[in-house]
Amino acid sequence: MANDNLGNARRAKNDEFYTQFADIQKEMNAYLDFNPDVFRGKTILLPCDDPEWSNFTKYFAQNFETLGLKKLISTSYAPNSKPLAIPHQPTLFEMDSPDFDEVKTQANGKIFTLTGDVTGDDAINVDDLQWTYLEGDGDFRSDEIKALRDEADIIITNPPFSLFREFLAWLVEADKTFVILGNMNAITYKEVFPLIKENLVWPGTKQFGGGMNMIMPTATFDPVLAGSFTISEDGAFIKNIMGVIWFTNIDHGRRHEPLALMSEADNIKFSKHKEVQGIGYQSYDNYDAIEVPYTDAIPSDHEGVMGVPISFLSKYNPDQFEILGTSDNGLVDDEFKKTPGLVQEFVDAYYASGGQGAYQAGNPTAGMYLNDVATMIYKRIFIRHRKAAK
Ligand SMILES: C[S@@+](CC[C@H](N)C(=O)[O-])C[C@H]1O[C@@H](n2cnc3c(N)ncnc32)[C@H](O)[C@@H]1O
Repeated sequence: MANDNLGNARRAKNDEFYTQFADIQKEMNAYLDFNPDVFRGKTILLPCDDPEWSNFTKYFAQNFETLGLKKLISTSYAPNSKPLAIPHQPTLFEMDSPDFDEVKTQANGKIFTLTGDVTGDDAINVDDLQWTYLEGDGDFRSDEIKALRDEADIIITNPPFSLFREFLAWLVEADKTFVILGNMNAITYKEVFPLIKENLVWPGTKQFGGGMNMIMPTATFDPVLAGSFTISEDGAFIKNIMGVIWFTNIDHGRRHEPLALMSEADNIKFSKHKEVQGIGYQSYDNYDAIEVPYTDAIPSDHEGVMGVPISFLSKYNPDQFEILGTSDNGLVDDEFKKTPGLVQEFVDAYYASGGQGAYQAGNPTAGMYLNDVATMIYKRIFIRHRKAAK
């Protein structure tokens, strides 16, 4: 029980990491480089935000004119509804407003909208945001926020990580254009992978390694749970969150850069990876594909299926490769599964050699004999060169 509570606290804390301005700016610039009019004439909704200080709100309000936005809408979640009791101190901006309400500040979400210059200073920026309390608590699943979603052209946010699957489904069911943050492990979720495979969702431009430095709310900051952290110039607690990447369905240039690769023979001669140089590629025992342990070791001339690490997706060009499946949850193309008998033999050998975990026949986790020991390989994505598919 105690562990459960700690788990819940950790999960809830993971829902309260805030995004730095520079990270938002860098990602949006990549979409603008590819299409300078990507945001022009659009209504942008920033749900799951705290508009009074969110960097998403700040970025889009500051750049309202440059981007040519039609309307900016930003909503927040009521303090009383957050799973983690975060002491809520209304801002002076809210308390000084004639609309301030002591009950609603805790129980309701807020909505900020921006459509033009209301201060009369001939500039459009954060000072022109107009706000009111929402009818409800701002839950993205409520009818009130769904109506805003339906009004918006593009939805951009860092949603609560514990509700990532639900949030993505909420976007996809309404057929929206979006840019959201999430953990790279979400790629192989059974709700997410089919969208990646069909090129309906793809990673943004940030590389997969290195995590993302995020702002932790001061009110709940716990140095023990936080582990290592730094303090920024303006006094914010910054923690590096591993595995954070952008997910989007907005096109960007990186998706159209072909990955430069060596042939199979050259990889065997020159690869910098000891697993490949002088050895070549091994094959799985349960799936008709070769194991490629590093993205830069993908052979340019292999015509069959290849199992690659999920970080391959940060280099994925849909004109160069076709995605066939993932080892993680059996979402593979049946065509390449090896015969059930062979798979069972492998599974038996896997358990006989002390293998642990849910290795199921017919659910081909990428497995192979390494030095005669039945071994499971870490999550793999199965791909094939486009030219080979023809
Ligand atoms: C990871 S934080 C990100 C905040 C902001 N988008 C940013 O990056 O600076 C996610 C926010 O969503 C809020 N939230 C949690 N559950 C929610 C829900 N069901 N509907 C709307 N917002 C929710 C959290 O309280 C938190 O403020």
